[in-house]
Amino acid sequence: MAYETLLVETRGRVGLVTLNRPQALNALNRKLLDELKGVLAAFEADAGIGAIVLTGSEKAFAAGADIKEMQPYGFADAMVEDLAAGWDDVAACRKPMIAAVSGFALGGGCEVAMMCDFIIASETAKFGQPEITLGVIPGMGGTQRLTRALGKAKAMDLILTGRLMDAAEAERAGLVARVVAPERLLEEALAAAEKIAGYSLPATMLAKEAVGRAYETVLAEGMRAERRLFHALFATEDQKEGMAAFIEKRKPAFRHR
Ligand code: HXC
Repeated sequence: MAYETLLVETRGRVGLVTLNRPQALNALNRKLLDELKGVLAAFEADAGIGAIVLTGSEKAFAAGADIKEMQPYGFADAMVEDLAAGWDDVAACRKPMIAAVSGFALGGGCEVAMMCDFIIASETAKFGQPEITLGVIPGMGGTQRLTRALGKAKAMDLILTGRLMDAAEAERAGLVARVVAPERLLEEALAAAEKIAGYSLPATMLAKEAVGRAYETVLAEGMRAERRLFHALFATEDQKEGMAAFIEKRKPAFRHR
């Protein structure tokens, strides 16, 4: 099947999904979410698939949710549509999923990488939650998953300043499981996925579920709260300004500061 925003292949028992909107640094739009949900559901239903690798390009895993798509939203639009909620289906994938990250994993890109079971990063990877620079906050789990992965101090630092973190810092902080040379990224992620796919599928699926339980219940509460706060920011002039400034390639002039 041909996809507009993804490249999809199987390598033995491993499903490989490559985010493929190079013109927008793999910004995550509605179409991409729909396609990704479809592919993951198909891999989940396919007894021949034991693990999944999600990757992007050399320059970007994904530079975030699509700002051009979100810019016109108001609070009511975001709340009624439950903007970003569809990503819960990606996080709910029951088969082991590895993120292979090269280049930018920002905003929603960092959040999608964190939805995977672990991250293997290239030395070139850059992680961050720069939503604050757009007048909003993370809305796909960043305030919850980053805080659980890194602890409060570093999560607050990244989310409040919007600064980026390189692969070495991300590994020290516990966000990333392994860092490898750029040319070895895919090979390393596929080898890890093949290894996982060689074990008993019920055992790997339940191992994933059990580790997930370490924080899942409180996570659901946090996700609901985060999403509503995220929606509320679409009621502000600063969200319009922050996203318009990005699109127009200029510095934002925030009114409320
Ligand atoms: C839409 C994007 C985009 C994005 C990049 N592009 N990121 N389009 N949404 N998130 C587009 C640019 O507009 C540009 O299109 C093209 O991709 C190349 O990007 P450049 O900026 O020219 O590249 P570069 O100078 O190399 O800078 C790379 C970058 C920068 C540092 C990653 O693109 C950037 O800051 N992107 C936004 C990162 C961000 O703020 N992410 C958080 C989004 S909010 P044109 O047409 O000009 O060539 C979010 C909230 C999630 O994720 C909440 C749930 C929905």
